[in-house]
Amino acid sequence: MRRRGNPACFDMTEQTPVTEEKSAKVPALPDAQTVTEVKHYTDRLFSFRCTRPSTLRFRSGEFVMIGLMGDVNPKTGKQKPLLRAYSIASPAWDDEMEFYSIKVQDGPLTSRLQHIKVGDEIILRPKPVGTLVHDALIPGKRIWFFATGTGFAPFASLLREPQTYEDYDEVIITHTCREVGELTYGRDLIESIRNDEMLAELMGEDFHKKIRYYPTTTREESAKMGRITDLIRSGELFEDLEIDPLNPESDRAMICGNLAFNLELKELLEDAGLEEGANSKPAQYVVEKAFLD
Ligand SMILES: Cc1cc2nc3c(=O)[nH]c(=O)nc-3n(C[C@H](O)[C@H](O)[C@H](O)COP(=O)(O)OP(=O)(O)OC[C@H]3O[C@@H](n4cnc5c(N)ncnc54)[C@H](O)[C@@H]3O)c2cc1C
Ligand SMILES: NC(=O)c1ccc[n+]([C@@H]2O[C@H](COP(=O)([O-])OP(=O)(O)OC[C@H]3O[C@@H](n4cnc5c(N)ncnc54)[C@H](OP(=O)(O)O)[C@@H]3O)[C@@H](O)[C@H]2O)c1
Repeated sequence: MRRRGNPACFDMTEQTPVTEEKSAKVPALPDAQTVTEVKHYTDRLFSFRCTRPSTLRFRSGEFVMIGLMGDVNPKTGKQKPLLRAYSIASPAWDDEMEFYSIKVQDGPLTSRLQHIKVGDEIILRPKPVGTLVHDALIPGKRIWFFATGTGFAPFASLLREPQTYEDYDEVIITHTCREVGELTYGRDLIESIRNDEMLAELMGEDFHKKIRYYPTTTREESAKMGRITDLIRSGELFEDLEIDPLNPESDRAMICGNLAFNLELKELLEDAGLEEGANSKPAQYVVEKAFLD
């Protein structure tokens, strides 16, 4: 795993260690941050890292607005920032920011964002918000992270968040995508966490044994096929993992995917007796859209 911060300081609100931005450039954009790494996974998915504003505090799982400067308006001659909501994929202790992004070919932002390179600048509005945070859940034994597509992003943050392993005995991450190549970012991240010596030193040798990773595809052959919602309904998910079905006493869950997926999963969790939580009223599960439909 790439290492920049020191997760030894785990008070995310007050003591998150943040180093000064490395770029010596004078930012040309408002709230400019410099891109430090870009990785492409498929023709529809990429991730990138950028510098972190020295004053930015956030809780693992939250999202911010990021973007680029829009085109010049021919009528006014002015430019406006083109911003979109993005889950922060890096944990709160990291001194850089990481994002995992779709490439929509005619999308106003991502048709351009997909071409960013190391050294380029992006806009990052430093006002993190969101419901996929530990504060919105009451204590439990087992936490489920349910994702489709780029909905994996907030869980890339939470899977690197030490509180996840302090609070729960078991951490189950399910990721459903259409094709096998779309699982690569998540698979690589889980692998890097399992081999992370520093996290193991801090959390105990066996911390990674708490992670159960359950990737599925729906439109390309893979080891496990099917929508996670169908696998829950049939009981196959629980049989495969050799665990008891969902139980409101012990299970907590976070959901992030497309709207239909979120709604279907919400219904399954409610049927199992779990109640939706929020920052203002913690309960047994929380949900957030991975994109607006
Ligand atoms: C709370 C929240 C968090 C988000 N976090 C992320 C994130 O971490 N990574 C990310 O890539 N996007 C994320 N999004 C979506 C993001 O805000 C943009 O919609 C996306 O970057 C595309 O922007 P665009 O201007 O190119 O196209 P838009 O005009 O915004 O979208 C065009 C169409 O593309 C499709 N689309 C948009 N985003 C996605 C997506 N992520 N996956 C599949 N289809 C999509 C939708 O059908 C949408 O109508 C998030 C959205 C919300 C509401
Ligand atoms: N992924 C691609 O290769 C691709 C290519 C070109 C264009 N697009 C367009 O991009 C947009 C987003 O595509 P995406 O693949 O990133 O995201 P998506 O359509 O949200 O699908 C992601 C995964 O979620 C599953 N899913 C969808 N609805 C579900 C539900 N109600 N319950 C459980 N699982 C559900 C899908 O299964 P199913 O396969 O069964 O739906 C798929 O495996 C779509 O508008 C699509 O047309 C995608």
